[in-house]
Amino acid sequence: MAPQVVLITGCSAGIGLATAVCLAAEKQHEFKVYATMRNLGSKGKLEAAAGSSLNKTLFIRELDVTKQDTISSVVDEILRENGRIDVLVNNAGFSGVDAIDKRSIEWCQSLMDTNYWGVVRCTRAVLPPMKKQKSGRILNVSSVSGILGTPFYATYASSKFAVEGFSESIAAVLRDGYNIRVSIVEPGPVVTDLMTNLVTNLEEHAAGFNDDKLKEMYLAQAKNMQPIVDMVAQSTNEIAKLHLEIILSENPHLRYQTSPAMTKMVADKLKDPTTDALLDALKQYGS
Ligand SMILES: *[C@@H]1O[C@H](CO)[C@@H](O)[C@H](O)[C@H]1NC(C)=O
Ligand SMILES: *[C@@H]1O[C@H](CO)[C@@H](O)[C@H](O)[C@H]1NC(C)=O
Repeated sequence: MAPQVVLITGCSAGIGLATAVCLAAEKQHEFKVYATMRNLGSKGKLEAAAGSSLNKTLFIRELDVTKQDTISSVVDEILRENGRIDVLVNNAGFSGVDAIDKRSIEWCQSLMDTNYWGVVRCTRAVLPPMKKQKSGRILNVSSVSGILGTPFYATYASSKFAVEGFSESIAAVLRDGYNIRVSIVEPGPVVTDLMTNLVTNLEEHAAGFNDDKLKEMYLAQAKNMQPIVDMVAQSTNEIAKLHLEIILSENPHLRYQTSPAMTKMVADKLKDPTTDALLDALKQYGS
C-alpha cells in the first residue's frame, strides 16, 4: 500500500514536532510526513529528532499559516510528488497571557490569524484533493481552552473556541458528503516550550499588566496553579501517539480529550447548564 501522505503545521517544537517524528518513524504503517514550520531557521531541533527519517519519510518545508502563498506552494508540491494528501494536522498556534484590556488589538488579531484563520486556510487548501479522493483526515489541535475559557487567556481561548465551533459545524457535512473525517484534539497542559514559558516567567508576563489588581490576581492564580499543572501535564509523545491512533482509526471520534483530568473539567462545566462553577475558577486555585 502507498504510504499515507501527511501535512503537519507548526513542527519546529512541541506537539507538532513529536507528531511528525512519531509518524515518520512508524514501522507497521507507512507515512510520508511533510513537517512544516513558519521559519526554516528553526528546523534544527526537528532535524535532530528526525534522525534517519530525514528526507526519507520526513520532509521539512517552510509554511506560514498566515501566508496563503506558502500554504499553496507546499500543498502543490505534495500533490505534484504524491498525487494525493491523506491527512492534515492543524497544529500551528501560539498562546500568551492576556492582560485583558492591555494587550493591543493587533496582538489579539495576529493570534486569531494564526490559531483560527491559519486552520481555515490550511483546511481549505487540502479540501479540493480530499474531496476528489473521497477520503481524508483533518485533525485540529485545540485545547482544553477550546471548551473552558481559562482565566487570563481570553484571546487564546477565543481562538480555540472558534476552531471548535467551525469544526463541529462542518464535521458532519464533510463526513457524509466526502468521507472526510475531522477530529478535534483537546490536550490539557502538555510539557512544551510554550507551556514552560507560560508557567515559569510569571513576573515577565505580569509586566504586561498595568492594572495592579489584575496583576495580583494573575500572579496568585498562576502560582497556585503551577503544582496542579505539573501533576496533570502530559508529554508531547503521549499526544503524538494519540494522533497516530486517530489517523489509523477506522471510525475516528469528533472529539478527543487527551487526559482524564481534562475530561473531568469539561464534564463539570457541562453538567450544570448555568455553568456558574466557572465563576469560581480563581477560587478553585485558592487565589
Ligand atoms: C534533506 O533535503 C534538503 C533539501 O530538501 C537538504 O537541504 C538537506 O541537506 C537534506 N539533508 C539530508 C541529511 O539529507
Ligand atoms: C478544523 O477547523 C477547520 C476550521 O476551523 C475546519 O474547517 C475543519 O473541519 C476542522 N477539522 C476538524 C477535524 O475539526
